[in-house]
This record gives sequence, C-alpha cells and structure tokens, in this order.
Amino acid sequence: MTRHIPMLDLNPQREALWTQLQTAVERVMISGQFVLGEEVSGFEQEAATYLGVKHAVGLNSGTDALVIALRALGIGRGDEVITSPFSFFATAESISTVGAKPIFVDIDPQTFNLDGSLIEKAVTKKTKAIMPVHLFGLPADMTTIMKVAKEYGLKVIEDAAQSFGASYQTEDTTCLLRGKQTGSIGDVGAFSFYPTKNLGAYGDAGLLTTDDDAIAEEARKLRNHGSVQRYHNETLGYNSRLDGMQAAVLRVKLPHLDSWNKSRFEVAKHYSGLLKDLPGITTPLLHDSHVFHQYTIRIAKGKRDEVQRGLKEKGISTIVYYPFSQDQLPVYKGQYGDFPESHMLAKEVLSLPIWPELEPIAQSIIAQTLRELLNAV
Ligand SMILES: Cc1ncc(COP(=O)(O)O)c(C=O)c1O
Repeated sequence: MTRHIPMLDLNPQREALWTQLQTAVERVMISGQFVLGEEVSGFEQEAATYLGVKHAVGLNSGTDALVIALRALGIGRGDEVITSPFSFFATAESISTVGAKPIFVDIDPQTFNLDGSLIEKAVTKKTKAIMPVHLFGLPADMTTIMKVAKEYGLKVIEDAAQSFGASYQTEDTTCLLRGKQTGSIGDVGAFSFYPTKNLGAYGDAGLLTTDDDAIAEEARKLRNHGSVQRYHNETLGYNSRLDGMQAAVLRVKLPHLDSWNKSRFEVAKHYSGLLKDLPGITTPLLHDSHVFHQYTIRIAKGKRDEVQRGLKEKGISTIVYYPFSQDQLPVYKGQYGDFPESHMLAKEVLSLPIWPELEPIAQSIIAQTLRELLNAV
C-alpha cells in the first residue's frame, strides 16, 4: 500500500499540547470573555515581548493587519506602495482595498523576495510606503529597504504573515538590524495566524506590531469600528477583534515556536541534502534566518506540473505557491509591465510537504519519487 504524505500534519502538535489546549479553551469558555478581553491582552503582551516591539494589536486576520496598518499610516487614494509581485494576493489586495496603488518591483530569483537593487528606481512623488514580504519564512533584504525608506521618507510595512519567529541576519556585523525579529524592523509588522502558519491558531487570527504609540492607538480604534469608547464611533473602521479562544490557543503554542522553527530548518537541510544532485531542480536558500514556512523548490524546463501530477499519483501532496504573479491576476491584468523573475517563478515553484515533525523516512520517499519522476518526464 502506498503511504499518503500530506502537505502539512498538525496532529503531532495537537497531541503534544492536548491537555494545555483543552485547559486554555475551557478557561475562555468559563470566563465569558469571547472577544478581546484578558486572553487577548495576555497574548498581545507575550507576543510583543517575544518580537521585541512596544505594541502588538490582536486582529481577525493577517489581511486585516495589512489593511489596518495602511489605514493607520494614513495611506489611501492617490498613494503608491512598492511591493513584491510574488506573494499571496492579500499583499497587493490590502493596498488596493485602501484605494492606493501597488507598485510591483521584481524579485530576486534566489530569495524569492523583493530585489533590493530595483526598489529605488520605483520611487515616485506618490510613493508613501514599501511593503516587503518575508516570503516562505525568509526575511527580505531589510538593510536596503530601510535605507531607501529613510532616504525618501517612506513608511515600511512588513508583511510578516509567513515569518513569525524569523530574525534578520546579515553578514554585515555592524548592521543594527541584525538579530531583530521580522515585523519589528519597519514602522509596522503584519502577522497571520492562519492554522497552517508556523504559529497557527484554530481559525483566522492576525496581529499588528509597532513601536509607535499613535499607530497602535489608531489600529486599536480601527479594529473596533473606529471607536475607543463604546458607541462613540469616531471613524469608519472594521470588526477585526481577535477572539479569546484563538488568543488562548496561541499563548499555549508561542513558547514552542522556536523549537518548531528549529526543527523546520533541520527538515529543510535534510531535503536539500537529499535533492542536491537532482538535475533540473533548484533547492531554496538555506539561510540562517529562514524559518521555512514552506520548502519550495524550482523545477525548470516546463516539467513542474507533470512532476506534481506524478507525485500526487504516488500519494505525495505538494502545492504550487503561487501559480500566478500578483500582476497576472484578473484584478491587475494588463495594468503592469513585465516582471520576468516573478513570472518565471510562478511556472517553476513547487512547495514540498513540511512540518516540524516530518520524518526523514518520509523525506527519503519524496526525494526518491522526485528522482524517478525527473528521469521519466
Ligand atoms: C504573504 C501573506 N500575506 C498576507 C496573508 C493574509 O493572512 P490571513 O490569511 O491571515 O488573512 C497571507 C496568508 O496566507 C500571506 O501568506
């Protein structure tokens, strides 16, 4: 019988923490504080301490964290925000949602993140911010991004949806950003706790981080229909309050995150060893700062889709993150120029199963199946 290997298995995590999770959820049910309340402020404090920021604001989702970050910074109609074309749609969508225009800058083919050397050329009089994405758990080139932002007076909103726990590392030993957590470097950080994330809730949840008191206050207001005091609504906001059960679950999981991220790195290292001599495959950068939300290989020469089908037939799940560059999606189609690296990536990427407890034996099966398929297609 063929063994089925899923993309992600959350069962080991749940089994290991079952008693604590049960106790945490029961505590919320008994407290009656289902939306915001003590669990949420407890989680906000613990997350802020972990990330090294002054404020953490619990929200409904990572998407809301991006939208509320833009709103809190006063970005809207007529403004431009520089971002990566190679990301989940929420990145560009958040910019368009507030009425601003996403300005895509091509990615670095090695890191899959914004190519730092192209950012400055994209700055215009309308540019208000840069929104880098730390894609798949690898921090973007924040040294360059912060330098350009400072030079042109731009805000930086980090889309850290996939990178909770990744700290910025660079070879430059004098760089002051070294060791800082993603989401704590720019003006605002936006995190997602969608269940599949490295730190995942049991539903939708998100977080906005900042060191700025005024931005934090505005974000708290926006998440609650534009009000600080009940029924004294001052502005148009959202219903984007983090709920108590998700916060309680996240409080149980947060202390384990570093060890899970370390295990993900070991899984990635093992994959790269197994795949290193496979022709036509490029393995991802094994950078110290990577928390491997995804382990994403490139398969060249138009073979990706056939290889994926072959893996599926052998019971191995994989996902194409992402089959389109954001500029190629219907909302933006025909409005932008070419982004050759991002477009090429969309044709070549394939994310393999990864989770902290993924066994080496399963990885060997995946690597061996890939080898056979590449020889055959
Ligand atoms: C890069 C990126 N940005 C934003 C989001 C949006 O987060 P959420 O699903 O919590 O709204 C995601 C979620 O997958 C993401 O991967």
